[in-house]
Amino acid sequence: MATKDNVRIAPAEGKLGVLLPGMGAVSTTFIAGVEAVKRGLGAPIGSLTQLATIRLGKRTEGRTPRIKDFVPLANPSDLEFGGWDIYEDNAYEAARKAAVLDPALLEKIREPLEKIHPMDAVFEQDYVRRLHGPNVKEAQSKMEKAEMLIDDIRQFKARTGVSRMVMVWCGSTEVFHRPADVHQSLKAFEAGLQKNDPRIAPSQIYAYAALKLGIPHANGAPNLTTDTPALRELARERNVPICGKDFKTGQTFMKTLIAPGLKARMLGLSGWYSTNILGNRDGEVLDDPGSFKSKEETKLSVLGQILQPDLYPDLYGNVFHSVRINYYPPRGDSKEGWDNIDIFGWLGYPMQIKINFLCRDSILAAPIVLDLVLFLDLAHRAGMRGIQEWLSFYFKAPMHAPNLYPEHDIFIQLMKLKNTLRWMRGEDLITHLGLEYYD
Ligand SMILES: NC(=O)c1ccc[n+]([C@@H]2O[C@H](COP(=O)([O-])OP(=O)(O)OC[C@H]3O[C@@H](n4cnc5c(N)ncnc54)[C@H](O)[C@@H]3O)[C@@H](O)[C@H]2O)c1
Repeated sequence: MATKDNVRIAPAEGKLGVLLPGMGAVSTTFIAGVEAVKRGLGAPIGSLTQLATIRLGKRTEGRTPRIKDFVPLANPSDLEFGGWDIYEDNAYEAARKAAVLDPALLEKIREPLEKIHPMDAVFEQDYVRRLHGPNVKEAQSKMEKAEMLIDDIRQFKARTGVSRMVMVWCGSTEVFHRPADVHQSLKAFEAGLQKNDPRIAPSQIYAYAALKLGIPHANGAPNLTTDTPALRELARERNVPICGKDFKTGQTFMKTLIAPGLKARMLGLSGWYSTNILGNRDGEVLDDPGSFKSKEETKLSVLGQILQPDLYPDLYGNVFHSVRINYYPPRGDSKEGWDNIDIFGWLGYPMQIKINFLCRDSILAAPIVLDLVLFLDLAHRAGMRGIQEWLSFYFKAPMHAPNLYPEHDIFIQLMKLKNTLRWMRGEDLITHLGLEYYD
């Protein structure tokens, strides 16, 4: 290991457990994908940790290792999976029902998938109104449910022999709620767990259990979860890294590619209309206005932050931005998104851009789950704690320090991610100044 490292990074010894609350389309596509890659049945396309390189030093030095050779990441073949769901299907059955991957491929990895049985979920109907399942824990208080989850995690560790773990929330989107007094401190939160406070969501009980055990946590959905003072306090107290919220996959990914480009050229924007049809279980949950409100908040926040209307009122002060998701079962997981973008240029002349993205939601999300697992484990071994803003790259609504605005521009996010890796290993940060080449 290089001696110039800025942080001491413990080696990735032993197996890494991946704990997934929610074993639906994203989780099973991720697990099946890792099992397929292990057997040479597919390639981990879309994953930075597996495919991307990182430039080090000057452009003349020709040093561009793969990220996975530059920082000591866990190997995907060392991952062990566990999860919870309100349905009893094992990972093979759930993957078949999600119908993202080819049945012929699933058949080849049936054996490892069938071994993954969901543990009983901590679930509340008020938080996800459209789903009803039998596999649910019963207890007197939310604190007892947290203890049952802690017990599940301990048993998973003993059963699989993993040395470290990471949790990624891949459960359904919970209904929108704002932080309340019960979320303001760890003490208030723990009292709320004892008293069964209705404002504590199931996703927060999972996160609490993970953080208590010193397990890093990422939130793939837009619900609050760890984005509260109480759970941030717990993460810092236990020296655990956390990040979220809401995987940046289809339409918002496109938005954060295009909006920075328009702004870079000082082109104006008068409207951005986004609509989607989606037919998977996620689409069904989002058909409920409460869950959709959580999504809408994260999807809408992006443009305002990128375009900075306060700095450019003439260009971006009057943007009409609308986002819709329509549940349309025939399409399953193959989402179709339309964007109509009304822009204006020189002397205010109007122009339009149309995007029709025929994407596959879980195919885009699975590599994000893999990268988050591996990077959070790295961060943990490097002693990094609390919000990991350098992982904003993966999220629609990146968690950030309370006194900062989030960074949404995907290119700034990528630079931040790579510079953080360079910083970890004591390499020069890359500024792209480059004057020295012309001395
Ligand atoms: N696929 C994407 O591109 C994408 C992008 C951003 C965010 N997300 C979010 O990721 C999450 C998962 O998406 P998906 O397509 O896999 O959805 P899905 O409906 O296929 O899977 C979610 C699973 O979570 C389970 N669940 C719900 N509440 C639970 C609880 N309290 N405990 C345990 N299990 C619970 C459901 O039964 C379901 O099986 C959703 O919140 C979605 O909004 C997905």
